[in-house]
Amino acid sequence: MSRIGVLVSGRGSNLQALIDAQAAGQLGGRIVVVISNHAGVLALERAAQAGIPTVVLERQAFASRQAQHLAIAETLSAHGVDLVVLAGFDRILHPEVVRRFQHRILNIHPSLLPAFAGSLHAQADALAYGVKITGCTVHLVTEEVDAGPIVLQAAVPVFDDDTVERLSERILAEEHRILPEAVRLLAEGRLRLEGRRVQIDRSAAPA
Ligand code: GRF
Repeated sequence: MSRIGVLVSGRGSNLQALIDAQAAGQLGGRIVVVISNHAGVLALERAAQAGIPTVVLERQAFASRQAQHLAIAETLSAHGVDLVVLAGFDRILHPEVVRRFQHRILNIHPSLLPAFAGSLHAQADALAYGVKITGCTVHLVTEEVDAGPIVLQAAVPVFDDDTVERLSERILAEEHRILPEAVRLLAEGRLRLEGRRVQIDRSAAPA
């Protein structure tokens, strides 16, 4: 059973999707710690409600971003985490942390990567650009932002009369579906990397 650490920064609706999947026995692992880089956010409440230990590591408590992120890595290790999920984490993880959990970190991004990579408002960018289809992507985290091997994607149509809010909401519903699924696939050892392509083994689990 994978020991999962989740990094959050805000509302935590993706964290909630992971908590719900775990409760339904569909996460393939157990969330053992939730770490936030902001105090007082809803994500922390959701974790506490589910009985999951929480840790707050804010930037201002450290001399540098590197020191803060190394503390995040230490906290993950101290909880025996072997799979990390960035669920609405609003910072770029320091390369040293990425190396420490190589191919064991998943991120969710609200666009069909590589479109709108690196954007903190990818839904608004998609609308402004005029794409007809956008969506979301779960990928393995590498040192290059939003550029790691793609695990799962879901497409979402953009309507003529869409607003950023409505489009974001429809993308979010897909995020909540594919993030737990990707976590399970990684936790169950069903992902195989071929270059930057991810092959998924969807055969039935051995009885
Ligand atoms: C999601 O849209 C996620 O894709 C993006 O930030 C948002 C986080 O939402 N990286 P939540 O905190 O999980 O509700």
